[in-house]
Amino acid sequence: MHAPGTSPTGVETATRHALGWLVFGNSVGLFLAILLVEPQWQLGELSYGRWVPLHLNSQLYGWTALPLVAWLLQLYEVDSSRFRGWGPAAVWAWTAALGFACLLWLKGESSGKIFLDWRGGSLQAFVVALVILWAVLFASWWDRASEWSRMRVRVALAGLVVLAMVPLMMVMASSPKTYPPVDPTTGGPLGSSLMGSTLLVVVLMLMLPRTAGIKGRGAAISGTWWFFGFALVVFGLAEAKGGGHYDWWQIGAMLIELPWIGLIIYDWAGFEWPECARVWRKPVLFWWTLLSLTAVGMYFPGILDHIKFTQGLVAHSHLAMAAFTTSFCAMILSVITGRSVGSPRTVGGWNLAVFIMLMTLATMGWREGQNAEWMIVPTTWRQAGMFIRAVCGASMLAASASWLIKQRKNS
Ligand code: HEM
Repeated sequence: MHAPGTSPTGVETATRHALGWLVFGNSVGLFLAILLVEPQWQLGELSYGRWVPLHLNSQLYGWTALPLVAWLLQLYEVDSSRFRGWGPAAVWAWTAALGFACLLWLKGESSGKIFLDWRGGSLQAFVVALVILWAVLFASWWDRASEWSRMRVRVALAGLVVLAMVPLMMVMASSPKTYPPVDPTTGGPLGSSLMGSTLLVVVLMLMLPRTAGIKGRGAAISGTWWFFGFALVVFGLAEAKGGGHYDWWQIGAMLIELPWIGLIIYDWAGFEWPECARVWRKPVLFWWTLLSLTAVGMYFPGILDHIKFTQGLVAHSHLAMAAFTTSFCAMILSVITGRSVGSPRTVGGWNLAVFIMLMTLATMGWREGQNAEWMIVPTTWRQAGMFIRAVCGASMLAASASWLIKQRKNS
């Protein structure tokens, strides 16, 4: 926490902005959920489709990216360096770029790629924000290097080299001319691509306690690291071969996700988690288990074909993002600031609301897969499902607003 009379540190600013974007993203999500119950409440030209990128991108680039920015600022010790004043400035640049992009998306200016809507002015603004953040991290690395071990200096430098590629990767990925490999039978990602993104999450989950100075050495055995190497090789081979969810190698790549459930739970049991992390640790592991099991189950032929493009997939997205990723981001912020995001009551309220929302969406998705007419012709059951989703959304919005208020009071 910053001293009274001084301005918030970079980590505190990133925490506050992350929670602010969560509240904003949830407000837009609730508005969308209400529109699905009462479509005639659309705001003229600012129709449902104009608001969707705001919901998705404020959750992804605001709520889930800024906790990682906070973590980076902490790892590079920006707040202890001579450049401490630049940490908050980098976060403000990020928020300004995302806010500006939201206005353009609302006007309908988008690349047309989901989660990569950056185009023209919004893309330029975001690239500038990324470059500012990188420059601040670099300056801090330069300043702090004399205090660090040689190993730490090298690892931090390697991190900077990787991060230097991010602006270029964003430009390339947002271009409508480039597309990742897709499963031609569904138009969705390959099993191997899904496994690749899981490995990235696994790295973050293994890194969190090790870089945050949590007591204990973890319980990861040498088999964990070997298994990680094996999974990387399978990822590379299956990605290069391509195929679809009827091919054994793509199903096999998905199955490799399963052992990670136990490996992470086991590893985390080897740390003495501080009090501030307690309220989120069990939700993270619960959602991690449910997400991995259902993701693998869903991929099998027959099941994926049944729920693809239904509310069942929306249930999966919210299990991945609103349930698991939100819990993990809240845990990151709790651990690095030493203060729990939320109280047991509000965290419980959030998780209960997410659970009911997921069950409702999954049931609706299954019915929709049986008969698409169920979604087209208004029925009492469909309206009831949409209404339950909106009520859950209102509870989630209230919980997230209380976290933001708590954070502002404490800092
Ligand atoms: C107040 C809570 C929330 C409500 C009411 C809500 C509502 C919605 C609605 C109505 C949609 C559009 C679904 C459709 O067009 O059929 C949606 C999509 C989505 N939301 Fe949320 N949402 C909430 C929270 C979140 C959070 C916290 C995240 C992530 C951290 C998130 C991530 C997503 C994603 C990834 C999609 C895209 C789903 C897809 O296309 O498969 N949402 N949400």
